[in-house]
Amino acid sequence: MAGEESMKPIIEKTADGSHTLFVSELDEHYHSVNGAIQESNHVFIETGLKHCEKDTISIFEVGFGTGLNAYLTLLEAKKSDKVIYYTSIEAYPLDKDLIRELNYPHQLSADSLSYFYRLHDAEWGAEVKISDNFYLRKLHADFVQFDFSQITNQQDLIYFDAFAPDKQPDMWSQDIFNQLYKLSSAQGILVTYCAKGVVRRMMQQAGYTTERLPGPPGKREMLRATKR
Ligand SMILES: C[S@@+](CC[C@H](N)C(=O)[O-])C[C@H]1O[C@@H](n2cnc3c(N)ncnc32)[C@H](O)[C@@H]1O
Repeated sequence: MAGEESMKPIIEKTADGSHTLFVSELDEHYHSVNGAIQESNHVFIETGLKHCEKDTISIFEVGFGTGLNAYLTLLEAKKSDKVIYYTSIEAYPLDKDLIRELNYPHQLSADSLSYFYRLHDAEWGAEVKISDNFYLRKLHADFVQFDFSQITNQQDLIYFDAFAPDKQPDMWSQDIFNQLYKLSSAQGILVTYCAKGVVRRMMQQAGYTTERLPGPPGKREMLRATKR
């Protein structure tokens, strides 16, 4: 893991008006510049969460970042009776001042604004009840060195939202997909915005059945992997 001071992202606006962050050290954005909310909704909510039929869903996220995926998941859960246990790993937590400037809560749901900040204010390492049906556990750790035994229950849904494989190849290794396969419950799903053949083959090698599905605007395809 690089020194935390070497990841100092700046806010940029994407095509749907929602913010993303740009990391100059990696020359990489946190989300699609074609629309951050649009991308997260499409990849993680529409193609992942809405595909899970269970009433209680365990989610593991790689890269908490801006908390956008967690927030969208919480808002979606509020519309249903589903209970979500959300675990997310992050090596470079964002500064509080930067978080206050992100426009997601205003763009998405003015009446649920406080939940966005509760997600960010939640203590690291502890399971925190954020709303009636959303429990969050944020882990401040390097995913490349992650001790998977810290997660004792199997996960129904994995949001694989690391920076792109050409920017952070260590995050997309065969060993990591093997570990994620073990972590997945029966019929568990993994979704990612990435559609690279090499990534798809690693998922298959791990044991997943993979689907190439339409990506969000600006991206032809994405991947969904299922443990059958
Ligand atoms: C593509 S961004 C997505 C973040 C988040 N899901 C969001 O919507 O804002 C990738 C995230 O992975 C985090 N990250 C980078 N290297 C990591 C590592 N070695 N371990 C854990 N997280 C890492 C970054 O800090 C960043 O938050």
